[in-house]
Amino acid sequence: MAERINHQWRLVARPVGMIRESDFEWTQEPVPSPGENQVLVRILYLSLDPANRGWVREEGSYMEPIPLGSVMRGVTIGVVEESRHPDFKPGDNVQGFLGWQEYALTDGSTLRKLADNPAIPLTAYLGLFGMIGLTAYFGLLDITDPKAGETLVVSAAAGAVGSITGQIGKIKGCRVVGIAGTEEKCRWIAEELGFDATINYKSEKVREGLKRTCPNGIDIYFDNVGGETLDAVLANINLGARISICGLISQYNATAPVPGPYYFSNILTKRARVQGFIVTDYLRRAPEALSDLTKWYQEGKLKYRVDVVEGLQNAPKAVNKLFEGSNQGKLIIKI
Ligand SMILES: NC(=O)c1ccc[n+]([C@@H]2O[C@H](COP(=O)([O-])OP(=O)(O)OC[C@H]3O[C@@H](n4cnc5c(N)ncnc54)[C@H](OP(=O)(O)O)[C@@H]3O)[C@@H](O)[C@H]2O)c1
Repeated sequence: MAERINHQWRLVARPVGMIRESDFEWTQEPVPSPGENQVLVRILYLSLDPANRGWVREEGSYMEPIPLGSVMRGVTIGVVEESRHPDFKPGDNVQGFLGWQEYALTDGSTLRKLADNPAIPLTAYLGLFGMIGLTAYFGLLDITDPKAGETLVVSAAAGAVGSITGQIGKIKGCRVVGIAGTEEKCRWIAEELGFDATINYKSEKVREGLKRTCPNGIDIYFDNVGGETLDAVLANINLGARISICGLISQYNATAPVPGPYYFSNILTKRARVQGFIVTDYLRRAPEALSDLTKWYQEGKLKYRVDVVEGLQNAPKAVNKLFEGSNQGKLIIKI
């Protein structure tokens, strides 16, 4: 039988600005065989995330920087091909940090078996029923404690996290305003997801858009972007506002220090609370989120979309869709 080949993307240079394909090397090696207590996984889907940009920095982010020469880190879904591990058998669908490659050998310690539910496509475990859903759920509910009638503003509102966050806000009775970068995205979140108002930040100044859409001020801000948008929100916050810092995507490719918000003083005068979080802090509480997310999804209260790009070879180019805003929902590579 011909030897099976495992293709991989290895990080070979620290990106400056946007990620370039030349920051990676396309390598190949024979598919390994599992030793005792090891599992061989064939990877089916790779999640591309804004966090990938932080992981390749020299100084790292909330995880250790990826060493040069290593297979690029990534959240994956795959199927067990061979197993010498008591907890996994061939055919099991699994999730884990197995990286930008076609096959991975693992001791199983970080693998999670996925439920065999024909009603849930595997890609949903990288989105609504994965890290994305948990991020929206805990980042909104745990950090900001939304109350019915409050005004919630969400940035990158048509993206994977933002679109779920806004819908959870609606479920909790908030008035939800979404900020996104195209007319199509604004239409989708208003007409399909039920957001109350939208701002296309590429065709209207966010400060003016917020005045137009939030006449009673802002009680909660779920920040996915940072930068000028955060500043525009700070200029409009109410007394006792809560701000959940989920992400700062407008700053991830910055090549020089980014200035702080000009309206920082409003945090003092409005007695606002600003809190960052990382979804992995909440993994132990995942069952509580997944139970609510599943219930709301089955009730038709949560919708999501996925943007699937074919071919592992396209990963370094495709990841920039997140920074250009051309992804339509959760960005995934189908391997
Ligand atoms: N804290 C955590 O644990 C955690 C976990 C997961 C994700 N996150 C964060 O959540 C945010 C969203 O992630 P996601 O995976 O759901 O991605 P996403 O929202 O599906 O995609 C990223 C979106 O960000 C917007 N964007 C890109 N550059 C921008 C800029 N300069 N200014 C304003 N908007 C910009 C684009 O939408 P537009 O067309 O609207 O510009 C783009 O589609 C990111 O900041 C990410 O780092 C945090």
